[in-house]
Amino acid sequence: MSDNNPPASATPYGTLPSASPMPQRRPISLPRLQEMRERGEKITMLTAYDATFAAVADAAGVECILVGDSLGMVCQGLSSTVEVTLETMRYHTESVVRGLRRVQGTAWVIADLPFGSYQESKEQALRSATVLMQAGAHMVKLEGGGWTADTVRFLVERGIPVCAHLGLTPQTVHALGGYRVQGRGEQADTLVRQALELQDAGATMLVLEMVPVGLSARLTQQLPLCHTIGIGAGKGTAGQVLVMHDMLGINLGKNPKFVRNFMDGNTSVRDAMAAYVKAVKDGSFPDDNLHAWKE
Ligand code: KIV
Repeated sequence: MSDNNPPASATPYGTLPSASPMPQRRPISLPRLQEMRERGEKITMLTAYDATFAAVADAAGVECILVGDSLGMVCQGLSSTVEVTLETMRYHTESVVRGLRRVQGTAWVIADLPFGSYQESKEQALRSATVLMQAGAHMVKLEGGGWTADTVRFLVERGIPVCAHLGLTPQTVHALGGYRVQGRGEQADTLVRQALELQDAGATMLVLEMVPVGLSARLTQQLPLCHTIGIGAGKGTAGQVLVMHDMLGINLGKNPKFVRNFMDGNTSVRDAMAAYVKAVKDGSFPDDNLHAWKE
């Protein structure tokens, strides 16, 4: 019997959504992301940390799932991402990937290298990245610029796609003096130099967190091969990312300015995620007047 798309059978502990219409979609890959970039289609990314939410995000049309070390805060109750371990990242990456495989999902999976798992040496970074790739990730993400370019090159040359992360880098929040906007004034040129070095080293994605809109738009123009994914960086990036709990309105603290609660006006998580995808694609989210910093 050829049935590529069986209905999900009910189970007592949560039923993953049926795969429809995913089998008609081609898996997301680096060439497909590059094609999207070239035709000006915004790339959508959400965090997910477990099988069910990953499957729902995939079914809602989210192209990239980030197994972010923000899981330390939203799943583990930690006060920052600094304490998240590689073993925890491996566990959640495997869970996400299993969920996607069960529904024949097509999303591109990015896993965060946690603090302390890549700073020591390029070899340490390779060992840590191997753990996450063997857990099923398609790409790893690491934070910071400058010294990280050599590490990125080392990983990319060994076949590991890398997403970089500049601006507000939560793993170094203590050194940055808090969760505050980065890249203002003279810092802008440093950020541009670091971003160009990361592209040159082979990074194919770059999360830009809490940087002024002008700077992120400028970076996006200067990085044709490295797709900028903004969070609190305005609409001028190649794509957007949000922490899932924030966009579902279940952040127990005060939501950052760059978040929109997509459960408003929606009655299911899947609909809220689909609304996020639509809003990013049609340019209505983020709104630079509400969700970003002009300077
Ligand atoms: O860990 C994470 O979820 C992230 C996003 C905030 C981009 O790095």
